[in-house]
Amino acid sequence: MTHNGSHNSSLVLGLDIGHTQICATLAEIDSRNQINIHSVGTSVTAGMQRGKVADMEQLVKSIRRAVSRAERESHGAALQTIVNVTGQCISAQSCEGVYKSMEASGQISSDDKLKVLKKARLLVQKPQAKILHFLPIHYRVDENVYTRDPVGVFGKLLEVQALAVLCEENHLTEIIQAVQGAGLEVGGIGLNVLATAEVLLTKEERQSGAVLVDFGGGNLQMAYFKEGVLQNCRIVPVGAEQITRDIAYCLKVDLPEAERLKVVFGSASAVGIAESERVEVMAGAEEPREIFRRYLCLIIEARVDELLKKMQQEISEFKIPDTEPPVLVLTGGGVLLKGMSERIRATFPYPCREGLPDNVQPLIETQAYAPSLGLLLYATRHNIIRYQPRTSTHEIEKFMLKARTLIKDMF
Ligand SMILES: Nc1ncnc2c1ncn2[C@@H]1O[C@H](COP(=O)(O)OP(=O)(O)OP(=O)(O)O)[C@@H](O)[C@H]1O
Ligand SMILES: [Mg+2]
Repeated sequence: MTHNGSHNSSLVLGLDIGHTQICATLAEIDSRNQINIHSVGTSVTAGMQRGKVADMEQLVKSIRRAVSRAERESHGAALQTIVNVTGQCISAQSCEGVYKSMEASGQISSDDKLKVLKKARLLVQKPQAKILHFLPIHYRVDENVYTRDPVGVFGKLLEVQALAVLCEENHLTEIIQAVQGAGLEVGGIGLNVLATAEVLLTKEERQSGAVLVDFGGGNLQMAYFKEGVLQNCRIVPVGAEQITRDIAYCLKVDLPEAERLKVVFGSASAVGIAESERVEVMAGAEEPREIFRRYLCLIIEARVDELLKKMQQEISEFKIPDTEPPVLVLTGGGVLLKGMSERIRATFPYPCREGLPDNVQPLIETQAYAPSLGLLLYATRHNIIRYQPRTSTHEIEKFMLKARTLIKDMF
């Protein structure tokens, strides 16, 4: 996660700029660096197209709308915002570094560790892209000792295997501009699935192996965790919105009507839908007409087949050994389609569960806020934001809220 600016906020905001909706979670950090949620707000995303900023003004307005809703409920304003990025502008690169320790003690020092990480980082290359996260996966000392932390291990030759998550520079700049344009200060930027995993995966699952699948409106995002760390991630710009577009195209209806048909009558499979069942379709000013529900579900099924194939292809890139099946954890609005999770379960030979973990007291009621809350958890756990006594910032927060109320009136 990249970060900039000072870290003196008590009220902080997690901002999930999704393809279809923006979710904002406003929270306070207490003296134990625990997150206490104050309020949440959402808005429909405008100004984004195919994962890129297409209309800055519209995007700024929709960010403002989500944030104002959260601020209105909590009567406070965040001094810092942690925002996510996702989409085709993200890529992941594995990299390795080697460093020969010169320590007289014969033990690997923390300086050696920093140096080997630096060497590996230097090997990451992608034009016009910035490293968003640089995550060590494991270290090796003298070609045989594998460890998560090599400091103190006896040996000379230190190697690291790491994962670099990169984001196209242009996109990063535009996201920062949009957030700043909404009157917010960017305190950090993080990969969406990494943040979401903070909320949805248990420690045990990350350890023993888990694939988080975020089936969003515009993106299919997959992240593989093992031995407590992110091993790899894949993000492809396909998602549940394509199903809506297919319905709109095939039935010649507008997108809101296609969305309604999908959510109310749709199913990921046409199997079991009675031949005679009909649904009413509204097409603009025309008289409502009836279609067979089975026809609607066949349109959906065809696209779901494609999406599942893509999901399978991408997950196979993780090269997970058959002997170590991970748990598949499903999230994102796309999974809410009737029959969708059943079809995913039938596609993969893995145990599978949806959304919030059972054995963890959830901080949020719905998984829709998992990314925005996850950004805050990630940022506190990695010291990107820290607790500051509220008294020192209270007046500034009040001022920020007032200033933003003025900005809001302009939209
Ligand atoms: N009950 C439901 N039934 C079917 N589909 C649903 C349901 N609720 C939401 N969706 C679909 O989920 C999609 C939005 O999911 P989500 O909110 O996870 O996306 P996003 O976060 O905005 O996008 P992304 O993560 O791809 O950037 C939309 O296509 C919407 O139609
Ligand atoms: Mg999303």
